[in-house]
Amino acid sequence: MSTDRIPTGSKISIDNTYQQATMTEQRNILVTSALPYANGSIHLGHLVEYIQTDIWVRFQKARGHNCIYVCADDAHGTAIMLKAQQLGHSPEQQIAAVKREHEEDFAGFLVQFDNFHSTHSEENRELSEMIYARLQAQGKIASRTITQAYDPEKQLFLADRYIKGTCPRCKAEDQYGDNCEVCGATYAPTELIEPRSVLSGATPVARDSEHFFFKLPEFEDFLKHWTRAGHLQEEVANKLAEWLDSGLQQWDISRDAPYFGFEIPGQPGKFFYVWLDAPIGYIASFKNYCESQRGRELGLDWRSYWDADSSAEVYHFIGKDIVNFHALFWPAILHCAGLRTPSKVCVHGFLTVNGKKMSKSRGTFINARTYLQYLDPEWLRYYFAAKLTAGVDDLDLNLEDFVQRVNADLVGKVVNIASRSARFIAKQGGVLAAEPADPALWQRFVERGELIAGYYESRDFSKAMREIMSLADAANEYIAAQAPWTLAKQPGSEQRVLAVCSLAINMFRALMTYLQPVLPAMAAKAEAFLGETLSWRAPLSYRGEVAINPFKPLMTRIEKDRVEAMVAASKAETAAADQPPPGGPLAGEPIAAEIGFDDFAKIDLRIVKIIKAEHVEGADKLLKLTLDLGGDTRSVFSGIKSAYEPEQLQGRLTVMVANLKPRKMKFGVSEGMVLAAGPGGKDIYLLDPHPGAEPGMKVT
Ligand code: MSP
Ligand code: ZN
Repeated sequence: MSTDRIPTGSKISIDNTYQQATMTEQRNILVTSALPYANGSIHLGHLVEYIQTDIWVRFQKARGHNCIYVCADDAHGTAIMLKAQQLGHSPEQQIAAVKREHEEDFAGFLVQFDNFHSTHSEENRELSEMIYARLQAQGKIASRTITQAYDPEKQLFLADRYIKGTCPRCKAEDQYGDNCEVCGATYAPTELIEPRSVLSGATPVARDSEHFFFKLPEFEDFLKHWTRAGHLQEEVANKLAEWLDSGLQQWDISRDAPYFGFEIPGQPGKFFYVWLDAPIGYIASFKNYCESQRGRELGLDWRSYWDADSSAEVYHFIGKDIVNFHALFWPAILHCAGLRTPSKVCVHGFLTVNGKKMSKSRGTFINARTYLQYLDPEWLRYYFAAKLTAGVDDLDLNLEDFVQRVNADLVGKVVNIASRSARFIAKQGGVLAAEPADPALWQRFVERGELIAGYYESRDFSKAMREIMSLADAANEYIAAQAPWTLAKQPGSEQRVLAVCSLAINMFRALMTYLQPVLPAMAAKAEAFLGETLSWRAPLSYRGEVAINPFKPLMTRIEKDRVEAMVAASKAETAAADQPPPGGPLAGEPIAAEIGFDDFAKIDLRIVKIIKAEHVEGADKLLKLTLDLGGDTRSVFSGIKSAYEPEQLQGRLTVMVANLKPRKMKFGVSEGMVLAAGPGGKDIYLLDPHPGAEPGMKVT
C-alpha cells in the first residue's frame, strides 16, 4: 500500500474485510492444461482436464490470487501433416481451422483461458531455438546415425504406428509395428513379417539418418531428487521411480523432413520432434500473453515467471498418459536450460463412459460439439467436479447417474432453496431481514467455507461438492422445519417469515459463492437475482437490509431423452465419419444452371429446432417433423427416414426453407422443407448450424 497520499494526522483504521483478505498473501500462479493436438476435435475425455483446470483457476481468482491460465494448440508433427494432406489443404490452413473449432468448444464449456495460442508461433520458435542452444552449450545434445523404416513411395520415415504386418511370434496378420494385439509380443518393426506402410501400402526399406538426442541419463540424480520433492502426487512419483530405477535412455528429439515443425538451426532437413517444442509452447503462450495489450497493462514479464529463481508458481494439469514428458523430460530440459521447473504437475485419470472406454460404436465417444447441441455445459462441469479427486484414478461418466445426480443436487437442493424462499421476501417488499434468524446455522455456512476452499486448493473437488451439498441439505432441512408457507398463514408472523427466508437466501448466497468456480453461468444468474457480486476473498458476512430482485429460474432439469438423443447422434456421427466421401469434391453432381441474386434472395432460409420427429404410418421414406421457427411452428414431411431415427433428431437445430408454398401430400400438408446433403440411403446429412444459432434466425 502506498502511503504518500495520506495526509498527516489521518486516523488509521483497518477495515475487517481488508485485514482478512490479506491474511493470506497474494500468489502469482501460472496454470496450464495440456495442449490439445490440432488434428482432432475436443471430446468429453479431454474436457475432464480442461474443466478440472478451469475450476481450479476460477477458484484461485475468486480467492483474490493473481492466477493466469494459458493453453495452445499442439500444431506440429507427422499426424497433422498427413491429416492436412488428406483433406487437401496446407498444414497452416488445417491448424487455423482446428484452432477456431477448439476455441469455440472450450468457450462452450465455459473454459476461460487468459490466452490460447499455437505451438506453431514465432514465440515458440524463438524459445525452442533458445532452449536448444542452451542444451547444446551445456554439452547435453548428442548426435548419431540411426536406421529406421522408410516409405519409399511416400518418401518419409515411418513411426511404428504407420507400419503394419504379420506378428513374428504368433503370425497374426495386420499388427502394428511395435506390438501384437493378439499375443502381446513387443518387437522392432524390422521383425514384422511382410511389413507394409499404412500410408502407401509399400514395403518399408531400412534407411540411415542422423538424429539428435538429449542426454537424459545425465539428469538421473537431478530427477531422482526432483520427482520426490513435492511436485508430484505420490502415486505418480512411485511410477516414475520404476522408470528411473530401470535406467534412462537418451531422448531422440529430431525428425527428418518432410515434417511439420521447426527446422533445427544449422541442420537443414532436420526438425525438432513435436514433443520437444510442445511443452515449450506453455512458455510461448504465456510470453504471447505478456506481450499482448492486456499483458502490458498488467506489467507482466514472462521471464519473471520462468527464471530459475522465480517466486511465481507454475502448475501443469495433464492426463496420466503424458507423465513422462512432463515429469522427466520437461523438468530436465528446463533445469539444463537454466529455467525454473514446475511447482506442480497435477495428473488426472482417464474418462470412461458407463464404466467402459469411450466407444464410437456405442455412441459414448462424445464430441464437445455434440454434447452442446443437446445439454447444458454446467451439468457436465458439476458432474465432473462431483467425481474428481486429487488422484490419478479413472473417472466414470455414468449417464443415468449423471441425470439423477445433477437433478437431485443442483435443481432439487440448491436452486430449491432460493425458489422456495424468494416469493415470501418479494411479498414483503423484497428487502432481506437485518440479522440471521439462526446465527449458529449461519456461522456453520461461514466456517465451512475454509474447509471447502482447502478441498478446492488440493483438487479434492468431490470432497468440496460433498461438503457444499451437505450444507444445502442443512438449509433445506431448516426451511422444511420452519415451514414459512405454514407460518405465512398465521397472522402476526410476517417478521418471522421474512427472517427465515432471508437466512435461506443468505445460505443460498454462500452455496453459490462456493459453487461459482464450477458453475460460473449459474452464479452470474444468482448475482442478478441477489443484486450483488459474489466474492470469496474473505469469509462471508451475512447480508441484510438490502433488496433482492425477482427470482428467475436458475437451472433446468436434465431430461433423460436429451441424453439418449446425444448418444444416438454420436453413434450416427461415427457411422457417417466411417463412410468414404462419395465421389470427388462435387460428389458426382454437376452444378446446376446459373441463377441471379434476385432468384436466390427469394428463398427465406431459417434456423429451426426440431421439437418432434415421428414415423409416418405407411410411409417408408418419410419422417414427420415438427419445427420451431422461433415463435411459429411448422409441420414438415421429410424423406430422411433411411438415415435417421426420430429420437436422434429431437431437440436438434437445422435449416429450413421457410417460404416454400405448403404442399398437400398423401400423409398431410408439408409446410416447408428442411435442408440436407448426401447421395441418399444412410448418407443423408441434415445441415447442422453452429450451436449458437437460435430458432427463427435468418440464414444469409
Ligand atoms: N498434444 C499432447 C499434449 C502436449 S502438452 C505439452 C496431447 N494432446 S491430446 O489432445 O491427446 O490430449 C490433451 C489432454 O487431454 C492430455 O492431458 C490427455 O491426457 C487428455 N485426455 C485425452 N483423452 C482423455 C480421456 N479420455 N480422459 C481424460 N483425459 C484425456 O496429449
Ligand atoms: Zn502375435
